[in-house]
Amino acid sequence: MKNKVVIIGSLNIDTIQMIDRLPKQGETISISNQASNFGGKGANQAVAAARQGADVTFIGAVGDDDRGRAFKQLLTDEGITTDYIFTKKQLTGSATIMLEADGHNTIMVFGGANMSLNASDIIQAHDVIAAADVVVAQLEVPIDAVAKGFEIAREFGALTILNPAPITSHLSADIMMNTDLVIPNETEAAALAHVTPTTNKEALGELTNKLKKLGMVHTIVTLGGDGVYYNVKGKTGQLPIFKVKAVDTTAAGDTFIGTIAANISQSMNDLPAIITRSSFASSLTVSRSGAIVSIPTKAEVDAGLPNPSIVK
Ligand code: RIB
Repeated sequence: MKNKVVIIGSLNIDTIQMIDRLPKQGETISISNQASNFGGKGANQAVAAARQGADVTFIGAVGDDDRGRAFKQLLTDEGITTDYIFTKKQLTGSATIMLEADGHNTIMVFGGANMSLNASDIIQAHDVIAAADVVVAQLEVPIDAVAKGFEIAREFGALTILNPAPITSHLSADIMMNTDLVIPNETEAAALAHVTPTTNKEALGELTNKLKKLGMVHTIVTLGGDGVYYNVKGKTGQLPIFKVKAVDTTAAGDTFIGTIAANISQSMNDLPAIITRSSFASSLTVSRSGAIVSIPTKAEVDAGLPNPSIVK
């Protein structure tokens, strides 16, 4: 049985601008190609979890526009419950992604309807949060909505996972205290702990112990090409990533988090195997272009995982 996962998060229409390199200030450069896709950290994570077989409900907001309606349909087609996607008098959120030739990206987000999600919306979804195994949130929706969702999740015993992206150096104490597992990348982790970004194992040990003192007891830090560091239930370690030719890193972290959410247990004892599975899923996303369109299915991950003993 896969997890019942609730995602509180963003839905964006991504426009990818393919460029050789980022422009300098004041410079005009040519865009070699463009594409438009469904994305947003919340939607990407929801689809990643659903494609792993999880029972996913999405809590978020779209505009009263064609993009919003198409988004709801897409998630419904993925088997995701969309009853708590609220329609707001704002445009559906969007993101401009500058994709460089080496696969790296730089993202600018227009929050739009995402930024209208509020604590009253979350209260309407009370029962579904109370029944969840895992509740996941990022920071592309207002902090009050995340705080309310995690408060309900904690009250009813769901495992809460926070992806503190976009980067922030300040989280309210109630969110930190109600987060079971925080999954930042190395820059987000450093911002939360008020230290310099690092991929060094010892320094990450100190950093994650600092987060522990703030209330975020268990941490997984994604380190790009340097793998994944974890400090969970008193056990620490660093696991390598699967090296692939990077076509587009968009949604790589989201695929990782969605796969974790689908497979994690309340005890979190089986985490190294789940991290390995999630890293592999993420490597498949990196080898393809786009956000939601690039996220692998469970069958693809099962078929490609090199060591069958880590397939769940
Ligand atoms: O994490 C990738 C996502 O960040 C993109 O899909 C974009 O919409 C932004 O939210």
